[in-house]
Amino acid sequence: MIVPATAERISEAGARLRSGGLVAFPTETVYGLGADATSDTAVARIFSAKNRPDFNPLIVHVPDAERAAALAEFTELGRRIAHAFWPGPLSIVLRRQVDCPVSLLASAGLETIAIRVPAQVTAQAILKAAGVPVAAPSANASGKISPTEAAHVQMSLGDAVDLIVDDGACQVGLESTVVDCTTDRAVVLRPGGVTMEQIEAIAGDVELSDASPDKPASPGMLQSHYAPDASIRLNATTVDTGEALLAFGPHRFSNFAIERNLSPSADLPEAAANLFAMLRQLDSEADRIAVMPIPETGLGRAINDRLQRAAAPRR
Ligand code: TXA
Ligand code: MG
Repeated sequence: MIVPATAERISEAGARLRSGGLVAFPTETVYGLGADATSDTAVARIFSAKNRPDFNPLIVHVPDAERAAALAEFTELGRRIAHAFWPGPLSIVLRRQVDCPVSLLASAGLETIAIRVPAQVTAQAILKAAGVPVAAPSANASGKISPTEAAHVQMSLGDAVDLIVDDGACQVGLESTVVDCTTDRAVVLRPGGVTMEQIEAIAGDVELSDASPDKPASPGMLQSHYAPDASIRLNATTVDTGEALLAFGPHRFSNFAIERNLSPSADLPEAAANLFAMLRQLDSEADRIAVMPIPETGLGRAINDRLQRAAAPRR
């Protein structure tokens, strides 16, 4: 059931989370499918609702860095990154505290835990109302396109969710950047809403994990992720008759079957915010999608990462 983000619904969301329910809620990145991270049975409901392979660990959401410190051992690097980017579109991987109450199922048996403090006001309010750490993957069926609107959640998960709290479209539109801060060198496991350049400015030399699809460093990074049904052709400099066009910036193509432009002015943040919703729209109306080249800088890195996964062969 989709409900508006009123004070009453937010406290209902908190109560449902505390009692083991599944609540989909907005963040600035994508909508999350939340459950009490300290409850094995609540976390198990996430995996079954998403039909997700259980070797994928989940990100645990808390409203502030103090509550994060109760769950994980912060390194000096982790503290610097948290200070710079929390609240915001970034998740930090750290070692679990010895007495960390988070379900081992949520971290898929790993000794580490990924933690995020989102900035979006409704996410903040729901996390405070819940009073427990909330495990939340993107609120879509496993392998499908991430939801940036409440209606996407309803379409993808429907009645498997107890409550879908609607607070409009997500501002960033791409998942959080996942950064391993267990050592003194930041390793980006998944590019996302905070750019490599922004992290480098705070943490110096940053490594981009070269995890291959067969040996994922961030275990959720299977190649065929974000998969639309249509076939995707990247870096298109021509458009074939009958193809849908996912454009970026101005262009002179006219023979497309249908077009969406991620950003007519070639603005990367605008393109990121539109990416998943436009992919969905084209996917529902076309069998083949041509995607114009997108620069590999700033948020372009995360956009290209998602597009490459969308284009990858199914497995
Ligand atoms: O923006 C986001 O991050 C959204 C919103 C809802 O917060 N959540 C999200 O969660 O994208 P999910 O489950 O779809 O992706 C979690 C990513 C996966 O790539 C997973 O492998 C990685 O985080 N991850 C989680 N725990 C980890 C850990 N302990 N070590 C390494 N990677 C981890
Ligand atoms: Mg996901």
